[in-house]
Amino acid sequence: MTTSSATEKKPTVELTKEQIAFYQREGYISLEPLTTPEEVVWLRGIYDRLIREKAGWEGGDQFDLGGVDDTTKEPVLPQILSPTKYAPELNDAQLLVNARRVIQQLLGSDEATCSFAHLIYKPARIGAATPWHQDSAYWNAQYDHRTLSVWVPLQEATLENGCMQFVPRSHEAHAIYKHQSINNDPRIHGLEFVAEELHRVKGAVACPLAPGGATVHGGYTFHYTGPNRSEVPRRAAILMGGLPALKRSVPVDVPWMAEKQTARAERAKAAAGKDVQPNG
Ligand code: NI
Repeated sequence: MTTSSATEKKPTVELTKEQIAFYQREGYISLEPLTTPEEVVWLRGIYDRLIREKAGWEGGDQFDLGGVDDTTKEPVLPQILSPTKYAPELNDAQLLVNARRVIQQLLGSDEATCSFAHLIYKPARIGAATPWHQDSAYWNAQYDHRTLSVWVPLQEATLENGCMQFVPRSHEAHAIYKHQSINNDPRIHGLEFVAEELHRVKGAVACPLAPGGATVHGGYTFHYTGPNRSEVPRRAAILMGGLPALKRSVPVDVPWMAEKQTARAERAKAAAGKDVQPNG
């Protein structure tokens, strides 16, 4: 797999000091398109193919983020991890170069990395909400992660189809609040705040975006996307990157991850087993 093409491209975006200060203060930012309309069309073609072909399903990289992977039903929130495994040409995108530049500016370091992390697809009409959560609730809690997510819709993102929403300044405490699997069902990959924590969700700001626009948030910022009540699919590509995580002096507990029993993890395990030599 090569990333050479994207590294040869130069960024075409530059944040202002005011934008960087806004991000640091509020814990999120909403940005104008990070790529051209032409590239958005190209990305959408790749995206729709990966969803249609169920790329990564067998190995556990594609699954229903909001359901139990019941194959007799339409998934309500298909997600594909590591999409460049299935479409390496994504590494040629100007979007990648620009998202990297945004992350580097927000973290104040040219060392910050960026890659296509996952795709989250909300099918027309039946696409489910992604409940309020913090990304750090999913991550190895031995570390304080310096990872940002750049969330990019490949069509307009609106309140009706499930644009991103944030609670301003919710990152300030650097705390991970109590989560559970969606519907408290450990067979579901997605997480949500437990009911007792929902009082923390106030003053939410919705961020509608143009195609190819972006929001950026860090691991502690509370965020949510509503269900897709529109007649068109809502496609979001999420690029992630940053600086190496720092070991915590006081570890945090994320017991909800230890309880997971997802079909996705079972498929991943079975696929990994296939690669093992019988005598190895
Ligand atoms: Ni998230």
